Amino acid sequence: MRRFGFYLVAIAVTVCVVAVISSASAQSAGSVFVTKIPVGYRDWKLISVAHEEANLNSFGAVLGNDVAIQAYRDGKLPFPDGAIIAALHYRFVPSEENNKAFGQTQSFVAGDPTNVQFMVKDSKKYASTGGWGYGHFSQDGTPGGDALLKTCSPCHAKAVRDSVFTRYSR
Ligand code: HEC
Repeated sequence: MRRFGFYLVAIAVTVCVVAVISSASAQSAGSVFVTKIPVGYRDWKLISVAHEEANLNSFGAVLGNDVAIQAYRDGKLPFPDGAIIAALHYRFVPSEENNKAFGQTQSFVAGDPTNVQFMVKDSKKYASTGGWGYGHFSQDGTPGGDALLKTCSPCHAKAVRDSVFTRYSR
């Protein structure tokens, strides 16, 4: 019986050690990428829209939180800490309903959502990626893996306005 008790304690200690190690590694991943969907992003203000052809064949709506919108309107660069920019992506689909109303084929609308991407400004936390933390979540909320998230910053570094491509549409 004593021996059984010893094993129980040993198992409990092992579980705790594993839990501490895995939470530490989850935290270090969180310091490089955005791992949680920012709250309330669907209600943010519109910055602009974009349509990608080729493989993506998507519509994008780019939204900003209040800090990002204020910086855009003031023409403030680099973006201040706390700015978050969201890119909501949808399939690019023809609308038969709208085409009927127009009497010809001309209407394309947002189809099913595909993913939402975020850029979160925190110049200390994300110093290694130009001050921006990158996040990608597929339509069901599943976060993108590290391999995907590692591609974001090198391409965005090509954008001359603080790693941000999208301009503010009035
Ligand atoms: C090969 C280049 C490239 C890669 C890789 C890339 N992006 Fe972008 N991204 C763009 C371009 C160009 C735009 C602007 C056009 C558009 O929205 O389609 C953009 C727009 C955005 C925007 C809107 C703000 C802005 O900069 O215009 C966000 C947010 C964003 N991307 C996040 C991400 C995330 C997160 C990843 C990684 C999972 C990523 N991007 C990977 C090129 C890239």
